[in-house]
Amino acid sequence: MTRITSVSLRRVLDSRGNATVEADVLTESGGFGRGAAPSGASTGEYEAIELPASESIAKAREHAVPRLEGVYAGDQRAVDNALRAADGTDDFSAIGANSAVAVSMAAAKAAADVLGAPLYQHLGGAFRGENFPVPLGNVVGGGEHAKEATHIQEFLAAPVGAPSVSEAVFANAAVHAAVADVLDERGVPAAKGDEGAWAPPISDAEAFEVVDEAVDRVEDDVGFEIRFGLDMAAAELYDDDREAYVYGDETKSADEQIEYVAGLVDEYDLAYVEDPLDENDYEAFATLTDRVGDRTLICGDDLFVTNVERLEDGIDAGAANSILIKPNQIGTLSDAFDAVELAARNGYETVISHRSGETEDTTIAHLAVATDAGYIKTGTVGGERTAKLNELVRIADDAV
Ligand code: PGA
Ligand code: ZN
Repeated sequence: MTRITSVSLRRVLDSRGNATVEADVLTESGGFGRGAAPSGASTGEYEAIELPASESIAKAREHAVPRLEGVYAGDQRAVDNALRAADGTDDFSAIGANSAVAVSMAAAKAAADVLGAPLYQHLGGAFRGENFPVPLGNVVGGGEHAKEATHIQEFLAAPVGAPSVSEAVFANAAVHAAVADVLDERGVPAAKGDEGAWAPPISDAEAFEVVDEAVDRVEDDVGFEIRFGLDMAAAELYDDDREAYVYGDETKSADEQIEYVAGLVDEYDLAYVEDPLDENDYEAFATLTDRVGDRTLICGDDLFVTNVERLEDGIDAGAANSILIKPNQIGTLSDAFDAVELAARNGYETVISHRSGETEDTTIAHLAVATDAGYIKTGTVGGERTAKLNELVRIADDAV
């Protein structure tokens, strides 16, 4: 019943106004699934390759579509193996990870449609856990997502004490609004960055004060614990030639960066720190994790790129205690699941994540629930972000 009869691909807009790939998968019994690829701006050096949308579509039509027809959409590994075989490279540089991930997600949705089950149920199976992920909400940001704002890419609200998904989602929106109030009181104008976070022209030090104040206000209001965390995207700060992290006119050596981050974890009781160090420095990651990993999550995004081989190296080195999962970094849902499973077996927390360039696709909300992820990072406001957050609310309400 889930045998694929057609795969069609088209260019659609992403949230930055760039072209991205959307895939439709149809099965013989009339099952239908649609998936769209997101796109990063602060991409890791070791990610699977995104080709220009038109090129990726042309290559996928030529090489992948003929192999996919006749494959069972309900057999996700068969679909993803067909994509890998059609591509023939390790990094999807032949057909593009953007077409690959769009088809992989569309096939999963087509299978769920045939089965009459919600996507998270199809992906998670009958023995799925009952937990819901805590949403990490980007409320202040800069880096590659907004010029003339903070050096640190993302300040993320983490409503760790929220009694429900819905209360967590609304708490993050309240922190986003409270940040606007605090900035206003300080006379700081702020536009928004690519993910909808405020992008004020202030120092990182001032941003810590602003977010800390906003979180305190909302915590008092809602009556449950809200902490905050960071995505430092430090590979973007790191200058290979100078062997230093560059913060405008200032630089920090790897040791100074470790000191700086460890100090921030203690001063602000940070719940989460993503990519605090360069993507090639497993050793420095390990030193930091050894120091503060008992009280905060040290998460690898550009470090691991959802890749089991890089995660294995990280586990051997003790480089982190959590991994960011972005299906388009690796190209298929099967590969993303493999990374989640390896992480779970080794006691690593998983954080399912959006990209800075997004669409209305809600697959990651289902993926987070299906894999029992502890966290989901998918923004706070803006239609392409609320698409995922509202889907999470619906899943919790059993209304998908
Ligand atoms: P990106 O940023 O999607 O631009 O890579 C998100 C992140 O670094 O987590
Ligand atoms: Zn990141």
